Amino acid sequence: MTDYPKSPITDKSAWTVYDLQENNSWQKSLSARAIEDLDRIVGDPTINFDDWSALRDYEWDSDAALPDLCKKVLAEVEDGLGFVILSGLPVDRYSVGECERALTALGSCMGDATSQNANGDIVGHVTDLNSDFAGDPDARGYTSSQELMPHADACDVLALFCVRQAKQGGESMLVSSMSIYNEILSQRPDLLPIAFRGFHHDLRQESVVENEGRYSREKWPVFVYEQGWLSAGYNAKTIRNAPLKGAPALGEDEIAFLDLFEETSKRDDLELETTLRPGDILFANNRTVLHSRHAYTDYDDADRKRLMLRLWLNVDEPRPLPESVLGIARGGVPATKTSSTKIHAAE
Ligand SMILES: [Fe+2]
Repeated sequence: MTDYPKSPITDKSAWTVYDLQENNSWQKSLSARAIEDLDRIVGDPTINFDDWSALRDYEWDSDAALPDLCKKVLAEVEDGLGFVILSGLPVDRYSVGECERALTALGSCMGDATSQNANGDIVGHVTDLNSDFAGDPDARGYTSSQELMPHADACDVLALFCVRQAKQGGESMLVSSMSIYNEILSQRPDLLPIAFRGFHHDLRQESVVENEGRYSREKWPVFVYEQGWLSAGYNAKTIRNAPLKGAPALGEDEIAFLDLFEETSKRDDLELETTLRPGDILFANNRTVLHSRHAYTDYDDADRKRLMLRLWLNVDEPRPLPESVLGIARGGVPATKTSSTKIHAAE
């Protein structure tokens, strides 16, 4: 087995709920000047929001506040607690299309976007399309109103922008995967080799590669340790469903690890429950933070239904990862149904 930390992670990324009460650097808001910067770029008809590289080269005014704010958010996400909730985006006067452009502008100050599904969506719509996430192995969580267990997405940083809240429920939960590591190290260090060896995953219908089967042939590690940096990746659903798609049955120790990992991720002292309100954007480092969500009930009116806009970002200077997991951790869900990725045109 590869080398791994034999003592707990002690930097800020290994937080507990008590630490978050002491340290509020995860709560940031857009200043009036930063909102002016957003208004300007969102309303500029000369900008092609489908051209990500042009957006990354966008020349902000010399006194613009937004690029600096994005740098601070990214520093907290990469080198601090691992997440930020940025509030104050003026959703009440932005159309959904303007919200998409605002999120794209913010994201382009932090990194490159990757595809989130086989359609090549760059700005994803997280909204209930009545899919049965719990019952259908191929259903994706972003199309369902059901509960989602803690997991990481296939990119460096998740950006999740609340445009409309649910009628009831839908709270977001965050947990430090570094703190989960510390707990397992303390309680059952004998299970850690299983975590570093990893698990087969259900590839789900949209990710199946022809002739390569319906589950990952390689085991994907839960933890990796590279150049002194611990990183995590986890998805309970695709691990536990892999045997349904032909992978070998899980062993007793493997199930003991998964149970302990998931039980720890839901512990009251480790899991932050928060409600994203309209205008809030969550930025979370998928290497150090897992996210999940409570089930929710929507309004009947289609225009009032819960809507989150989502970006999957890869940053310029990510945590070091072994070559073998780069595709899994940063590859998104490759576009296979279209020749190129696209940004939604919701208007
Ligand atoms: Fe997710």
